[in-house]
Amino acid sequence: MANKFEQFLAERKNVIEQQLSVYTERLNMPDSLKKSMLYSLEAGGKRLRPVVVLAILHAYGKSEKDGIPVGCAVEMIHTYSLIHDDLPCMDDDDLRRGKPTNHKVFGEATAVLAGDGLLTESFKLITSHVSEDVSADKRLRLVNELISAAGTEGMVGGQIADMEAESKSVSLEELESIHERKTAKLLAFSVMAGAILADAPENEIETLRAFSSHIGIGFQIRDDILDLEGNEEKIGKRVGSDTTNDKSTYPSLLSLDGAKNKLADHMKAAKDLISGLSLQKELLYDLCDLIAARDH
Ligand code: IPE
Ligand code: IPE
Ligand code: MG
Ligand code: MG
Ligand code: MG
Repeated sequence: MANKFEQFLAERKNVIEQQLSVYTERLNMPDSLKKSMLYSLEAGGKRLRPVVVLAILHAYGKSEKDGIPVGCAVEMIHTYSLIHDDLPCMDDDDLRRGKPTNHKVFGEATAVLAGDGLLTESFKLITSHVSEDVSADKRLRLVNELISAAGTEGMVGGQIADMEAESKSVSLEELESIHERKTAKLLAFSVMAGAILADAPENEIETLRAFSSHIGIGFQIRDDILDLEGNEEKIGKRVGSDTTNDKSTYPSLLSLDGAKNKLADHMKAAKDLISGLSLQKELLYDLCDLIAARDH
């Protein structure tokens, strides 16, 4: 495996998956809700967002220990966003992570509540499951970052903008703003969280925020491309979902080649931004390459 980030991901995935299950198993709730939450959490997925938290800590030469609960928190929010995104009232999809979508198995009401449960319980991982080494100020900063990334100014706002952009033409600027909010901000949280936990210098944290915006938009452009030319078995979701829903996507606006060029531009901009930072950059360069070339 030549890509360093891919190797790092393969080595860290298990600990994240184990912690996600242990944490959720221990929560006190009705069985039906727990089954539904665990079904989506344990369905697989790349676990990119939690492992990015660990990668930033690693790149700064710091212990990855507290990155685990914080990474699990962002993965729980991401998983909730997927459950809701697949609902009939949203993208109406029946396949996710290679399995029937949550509402297909448990019904819509339980799927909505499983998402609500994942969202709400995620915060406790940050407030109560990191070590004493993480000060109350730092925990508060992490929680605020997560609210901005996942809430109305981030993913939730981006998701409604995405739906409102169905069946109409939007400008490239508007589309970039949708991708930034619905996808990039949550991925950026992972980078920010790693940097905050690592006590990175403030100027580097802000440079990393700009870096994350490029890789996050690039991540969603690649997702749009895979919706057209991906392999259903590999991506674990239906191809052509965006076409069915008449979504505004990079390929629909710029053509497939135009979207690929934009993706390359974002990845180059991301790499250029971090060239002067003090962390170990190879891991992040390889993350950019992985996002640009991923087939699932
Ligand atoms: C899918 O995210 C939703 C987007 C934001 C594009 P991922 O491609 O990271 O999905 P999983 O977690 O690997 O299933
Ligand atoms: C979803 O974008 C982003 C989320 C916040 C869930 P998509 O709707 O394109 O994600 P997929 O393709 O269903 O995973
Ligand atoms: Mg969607
Ligand atoms: Mg979708
Ligand atoms: Mg998609």
